Amino acid sequence: MAAGLGTRMKSKRPKVLFAIAGRPLVYYPVQAALAAGAEFTLLVTSPSGQKQVAEALGGHVDAERFSCVVQDPPRGTGDAVMVAMRAAAAAACQRVLIVSGDTPLISVDDLRPMFDAFTATPSAKLALLTFVAADATGYGRVLRDAQGQVSEIREHRDLKSDAERQVREVNAGFYLVDAAFLREALQSLKPENSQGEYYLTDIVRLAAQSGGAIAVSRPEQNLMGINDRVQLADAERLLFRRIADRHRRAGVSITGEVCIDEGVLIEPDASIAAGVSLRGAVRIGEGASIDVGSVIENSSIGADSKVLPYCVITSSSVGQKTQIGPFAHLRPDSVIEDEAKIGNFVETKKTRMGRGAKANHLTYLGDADVGEGSNIGAGTICCNYDGFNKSKTTIGKNVFIGSDSQLVAPVTVGDGAYVATATTVTEDVPSDALAIGRTRQANKPGYAKLLREKLGARKKGAH
Ligand code: UD1
Ligand code: CA
Repeated sequence: MAAGLGTRMKSKRPKVLFAIAGRPLVYYPVQAALAAGAEFTLLVTSPSGQKQVAEALGGHVDAERFSCVVQDPPRGTGDAVMVAMRAAAAAACQRVLIVSGDTPLISVDDLRPMFDAFTATPSAKLALLTFVAADATGYGRVLRDAQGQVSEIREHRDLKSDAERQVREVNAGFYLVDAAFLREALQSLKPENSQGEYYLTDIVRLAAQSGGAIAVSRPEQNLMGINDRVQLADAERLLFRRIADRHRRAGVSITGEVCIDEGVLIEPDASIAAGVSLRGAVRIGEGASIDVGSVIENSSIGADSKVLPYCVITSSSVGQKTQIGPFAHLRPDSVIEDEAKIGNFVETKKTRMGRGAKANHLTYLGDADVGEGSNIGAGTICCNYDGFNKSKTTIGKNVFIGSDSQLVAPVTVGDGAYVATATTVTEDVPSDALAIGRTRQANKPGYAKLLREKLGARKKGAH
């Protein structure tokens, strides 16, 4: 179920598309359902959310295993399931797993006990996940009869007494239901409640009356629903902590709070320092270290490389035994080969740094190809853009570019060439040549002293 308006998010965006640890909310329950053995997933979405939900999930879930059905207008969770069951009319399924799209901390470990309990009680028509809420506000309460059996779920807004309000056992929004029973039960739902909606939760009472409804309790921290941005932030903190612990157990050192997205791969003996964000498809090699405050997105860092504090690396590939930063910026399509060095305040974009090449300070390398072993001096700028087109700078192997040089692209500097400090390179430099292009210096003896006296006198006169 992912068609709700998400009113409490106060956003134009469908709630289930808000990201948590780099993936949309709805990814997590869908993934858990598939991992629990669901053959196929039908996602109930709003008309406006349909395309977006399909796109957002498409990158992470096999497109063969889910499709979207539109619920228009959203008339409650019971109506959402009716829409799905109508779409699945021809399917010969025996059990239907219903999951809420706004509960991202769920995993297959929570669903399995529900399957087990359902299978162990053949007479039951339905099993549902519940938890004991620290604060039950907003949740449907699990009401039980004198024998302690589940009798029904009552929504927060429809509670009738203080005794009901005090119940802290709540419905998590996950159900495993006998398909034939479900089809029948849905037909008898009526929107007779404080919200005028078709409540899926009403089928719990019907199940209790015919064969039984089984409640399976799981920890709150796995089942919390996201209705507003405070809950979203709480859930994300929990998920980030869980992901970090998973990596720690797999041999990664992580100190302090970090934000590592779902799906990030980190090999053993890597270390990640406080304040690091690893976003999207990131891969960190064995023994690599990512120091404080670095943000790495859709990139790979090779084994034993050191990313020093406060680097930003986006859509790039960094080889082994490199050193990056502090304060380096690798923009998209940067390829830093093994043992290369990128120092502080160096920016690269669509640039290859060959093996062992160095750019240690204050440099912009855009649309450049730097050969093996070359050294790029401080303050070097690739002038790659004329306001209309981007052009390429090609630097051969073992080239030395003196500090404060400009390379006006398109231009090529051959292997072993030497560009003197402060040269503006506008023509190709042949291999092993020296290029020098700067104005000659003139010294005027004693002139500084004269100048000081003159300026000093002028300042005095003004007072
Ligand atoms: C629901 C349950 C409540 C439970 C809580 C757990 C009902 C009536 N109530 O309440 O017992 O404690 O979840 O988190 O089911 N949705 C649709 N179409 C709709 C309405 C909702 O697809 O017409 C989807 C939403 O996108 C969401 C999910 O169903 O992913 C739950 O809807 P929401 O409105 O958040 O229900 P709650 O009020 O949280
Ligand atoms: Ca909810």
